[in-house]
Amino acid sequence: MTQKKKFIIGNWKMNPATTSLATDIFKKIQKDTAHLTKTQTIICPPYIYLESLARLQGLSKAAKKTKKKKKESSHTLAPVLLGAQNLNSEPMGARTGEISGELLKQFGVTHVIIGHSERRDLGETDAIINTKILAALNWKFKVILCVGEKVRDDDGHYLAFIKNQLEQALAGVKKENLKSLIVAYEPVWAIGATEAIPPSSIHGMTIFIRKTLFDIYKTRTLTTPILYGGSVDSKNAGEILQQGSADGLLIGRQSLDPNAFTAIAVTANTLS
Ligand code: PGA
Repeated sequence: MTQKKKFIIGNWKMNPATTSLATDIFKKIQKDTAHLTKTQTIICPPYIYLESLARLQGLSKAAKKTKKKKKESSHTLAPVLLGAQNLNSEPMGARTGEISGELLKQFGVTHVIIGHSERRDLGETDAIINTKILAALNWKFKVILCVGEKVRDDDGHYLAFIKNQLEQALAGVKKENLKSLIVAYEPVWAIGATEAIPPSSIHGMTIFIRKTLFDIYKTRTLTTPILYGGSVDSKNAGEILQQGSADGLLIGRQSLDPNAFTAIAVTANTLS
């Protein structure tokens, strides 16, 4: 896994407050991570900012047209990809307040976070998450599947919990779709907290998740990236990637600070 690009993914959640702040943060990240060759950065903003950010990337249909006219070359753009924080499994129709793959595709969105614990808290079940994953794959998105236990017990029941989350989320997902899957391990109590969990625990979980995927898919060529998320910052990123053997990081609060996010991406780049 060490030869592959590390994924540094920002989940902006319901932030920042204005479009101009969103574009400022994004532009700074684009500029400051442009030189990184061994790191794939992805930003998952609120939907309402996707169009503005896609224009900065030249990814939206409208932006592509303008670019063609101006004959700009795309090598001037930093390779920050755009992700969505959710999607509805239906393509269109009567789904008040929802977002679909069809709508997201217009803005060059390549990745979709599915199963974040904050959405599970709103009532998203493993079965719903499964239908979303199948729909997202159908739309040719890369899926960032979040799994994580709420509490840890001494008897290791949390391992069975994670295994069950993976099995249910991936029901019906074919082996050939594994190339479109990223798993983010996010222990719920470490999200929005003051500290990440120790790298040694992360290491144990990346091995466990990989083994579970092996057990489900019975394949020796499994290359699914396993990420960690939960209170990642520029100080702990290096040890999580190295000692935790994570293939990348899913970052909440620190992804809204372009300097912190860039510092994490630079660390990942030097370790890849
Ligand atoms: P945090 O959020 O980095 O603010 O802890 C992580 C996440 O929710 O993915």
